Amino acid sequence: MGRLIFFASALTLLAASFFAYALRHAELPARAALPRPVFPADLVQRGEKLASLGACAACHTRPGAAPYSGGHGLNTPFGVIYSTNITPEAETGIGLWGEDAFIRAMREGIDRRGGMLYPAFPYDHYAKVNDADMKALYAYFSTRQPARAQAKTNELSFPFNIRPLLAAWSLLFLESGPYKPDPTKSVKWNEGAYYVEGLGHCGACHSPRNALGAVKADARLAGGDADGWHAPGIGAHAKAPATWTRDSLTNYLIDGWDENHGLAAGPMTAVVNHLAKIDESMVDAMVEYLIDTQPKPDAGERTKVIQLARDREFSGGAPAGTLSENESRGEAIFARACANCHKRGGQTTPLALGAVMNAPHAGNLIAIVMKGVQPPTGAPEKSMPRFAQSLKDDDIIDLATYMRKRFTQKPAWTDAPQRVKDMRAAK
Ligand code: HEC
Ligand code: HEC
Ligand code: HEC
Repeated sequence: MGRLIFFASALTLLAASFFAYALRHAELPARAALPRPVFPADLVQRGEKLASLGACAACHTRPGAAPYSGGHGLNTPFGVIYSTNITPEAETGIGLWGEDAFIRAMREGIDRRGGMLYPAFPYDHYAKVNDADMKALYAYFSTRQPARAQAKTNELSFPFNIRPLLAAWSLLFLESGPYKPDPTKSVKWNEGAYYVEGLGHCGACHSPRNALGAVKADARLAGGDADGWHAPGIGAHAKAPATWTRDSLTNYLIDGWDENHGLAAGPMTAVVNHLAKIDESMVDAMVEYLIDTQPKPDAGERTKVIQLARDREFSGGAPAGTLSENESRGEAIFARACANCHKRGGQTTPLALGAVMNAPHAGNLIAIVMKGVQPPTGAPEKSMPRFAQSLKDDDIIDLATYMRKRFTQKPAWTDAPQRVKDMRAAK
């Protein structure tokens, strides 16, 4: 019976998606390549800020290649998807796209010719962007330097390599229409919510996803994974040991570091490097929204948590006899390789307060230890060397086990050995 229902719904879905496909997937007329359109300077400028908020360059610009010429490979559970050339070049970029085609791509994930786009391009978030901001983005991208660069072929497994199937995906998971303001909240709050949920696509990394790679609608911003890193819950789901204040969150989002929260490492570094380029009032608005929605602690709690973390960080180790043999090895490695910088009076945040040690898996820590830290542009002195060569696999695993026990009261990690192996293989 259950199976019958499954097949019946699968068939209905298939029929519905073909219908939706035919309706929405008309090819839109090409714009003349020349003369190139002209836009008011302030519109282009607003577009530039918005492109930074959307971190378009993080995916569409490869180091060393022409800006926005694409070709950056994104690892997804389904294979590698390459970003495309979004410069206004006629043949290999979007030089023939009218504004209508650009907006349709951003809202519905459909290219000018009517083909489906993979949601690795976070259009499920960009869909919330309003018309005025879409026009500004279009003006900005239409006035970039055209670059010739052919899109690379994706490396996806069957059936994920069949683009038309994405019509069913968007039918199931794509909520269309711009952000709807909450009339009970302030203008600033709504502006912030609009950026966080829309162009900022914070939820693309900070939300859990289902088996088909769609953000779970009832768990937005509840914490997710990006490129092997855990992105903790934020806003209503904030879990940082020290509750965020306006100042600490602003520091973190603009400089990429705060004394009671640590570093924006891994995939978050590119995000803060982009946020450093937008208007501070835009960051303020996001902070307003995220702080207002976060769980409220009792007043003294924050100070207590910070004090405890500082004590634990600098107490010189765990009480004698509480560590296993491997953990003791980890303790010795920490003392030798790490405590030079991570110590009392040092310049680093107590490890107990940061996202890395509190993550549900060891991915962030293993990546940091093996690859080191490339600091955000706002905190250039916060760099840390890589230990991939100087520490052996077992050293790193024992170190991770020890650190988790010493700096948190959370359950032990079990994934460190696999993470180390994967990272060695990825080189
Ligand atoms: C997380 C990575 C990521 C970010 C951030 C991102 N894109 Fe993309 N984008 C992609 C990928 C991947 C594709 C190709 C999808 C495909 O081939 O199905 C794409 C495709 C596109 C396309 C369709 C182009 C074509 O030739 O079909 C447009 C337009 C686009 N992106 C614009 C933008 C803009 C504007 C921004 C910033 C507001 C942006 N993207 C941010 C990953 C990203
Ligand atoms: C490309 C993925 C990605 C995107 C997009 C992203 N983040 Fe993050 N974020 C992360 C990761 C990964 C971490 C953990 C960093 C670490 O361990 O150092 C993080 C950490 C954070 C933290 C610290 C959380 C904590 O508990 O310490 C905050 C706050 C945050 N992000 C806010 C945002 C906001 C606001 C946006 C949208 C403007 C955003 N992020 C977009 C991946 C992302
Ligand atoms: C040369 C100095 C130096 C050494 C040695 C060093 N670190 Fe770091 N580490 C830093 C700096 C600087 C930061 C970023 C600033 C901060 O976290 O306050 C950092 C950040 C980190 C973070 C991220 C903390 C967060 O959530 O913000 C972890 C985890 C970490 N280090 C672990 C280690 C481990 C494990 C070792 C030894 C294998 C080590 N570090 C050795 C300087 C160092």
